[in-house]
Amino acid sequence: MEEVKILAIESSCDETAAAVVVNGREALSNVISSQIDLHTLYGGVVPEIASRKHIENINYVIEKALSDANCTLDDIDAIGVTYGPGLVGALLVGVAEAKAICFAKDIPLIGVHHIEGHICANYVENKELEPPFVCLVVSGGHTHLVVVEDYGKYKILGKTRDDAAGEAFDKVARAIGLGYPGGPKIDKISKEGNPHAYEFPRTKITNSIYDFSFSGLKSAVLNQLNLSKMKGEEINPADVAASFQKSVVDTLVSRAMIALEETGMKKFAIAGGVASNTAIRAAFKEECEKRGVEFYHPSPILCTDNAVMIGSAAYYEYKNGITHSWDLNAIPNLKL
Ligand code: KG4
Ligand code: ZN
Repeated sequence: MEEVKILAIESSCDETAAAVVVNGREALSNVISSQIDLHTLYGGVVPEIASRKHIENINYVIEKALSDANCTLDDIDAIGVTYGPGLVGALLVGVAEAKAICFAKDIPLIGVHHIEGHICANYVENKELEPPFVCLVVSGGHTHLVVVEDYGKYKILGKTRDDAAGEAFDKVARAIGLGYPGGPKIDKISKEGNPHAYEFPRTKITNSIYDFSFSGLKSAVLNQLNLSKMKGEEINPADVAASFQKSVVDTLVSRAMIALEETGMKKFAIAGGVASNTAIRAAFKEECEKRGVEFYHPSPILCTDNAVMIGSAAYYEYKNGITHSWDLNAIPNLKL
């Protein structure tokens, strides 16, 4: 098989990332420069600061990705870059950089959908995984239940009507004083808490078995905190975190299992930052085992934002004959 080496760039939010990926499945390098410490000061990502940091970091991150992979730009066959969804100023940095290199080296430019990237992270560590399968993408900005019908071909079964799962983790973490980013902190502290201490809602959407809603859950947690404060009751943050997390887990698992039953598919994958949550992984492992369904997930470093996943998605576009011209633009609300 001919070897296709793609240099991938990801800058949609607060990570500047670059990677070299061979044939969509093998990562030769994976460089991620995180801005988390900077944004922690403000309790969340500040878009203007993110864009400026991407500009400062991007050349160094690309050089490191090439040198870690023992190659130069002359060895690269095409460039894959995230062009949406995400923060427009942040996306533009990656898109402009990718265009400049493609123009200079006369190689194809491939724009990648960020969510498609998250899904494709599964191909890198699960070499045997092939479509079709059901995939749940849970990140800071997205909660999508998708049927991956083929490479590059997706059918969205459901998505969140309001907050994304990761957003709910981050907001609840802030409310109980854990700071940003909240997901990993809630994951950790929940291990010491009682998941049945509080009965938080498992929201269902009328007439839509696959859609999600997490804003009611977030409000229920905030109301509980206020109520306890008014009554002068001591709150155990670990109990609140564990009960909240249990509600998210139950909601995600129930929708995904309906999707598996309805489609009859025997392969299920999770993707996105929240997919690194240990309780979510454990619950899906157990439920999939019960049903004889093969369960796939990327390792945590490929769940949160990275460029390896973009390199994988770009390869399958390239193979499908999809490349982009110089008018490729950043699209903050790009649809899958
Ligand atoms: O995929 P990602 O890096 O960025 C987006 O595309 O949004 O996801 C970031 C999100 C954040 O909301 C973060 O709190 C959440 O993933 N996250 C977690 C965990 N690790 C990251 N949520 C729950 N448990 C975790 N272990
Ligand atoms: Zn992401």
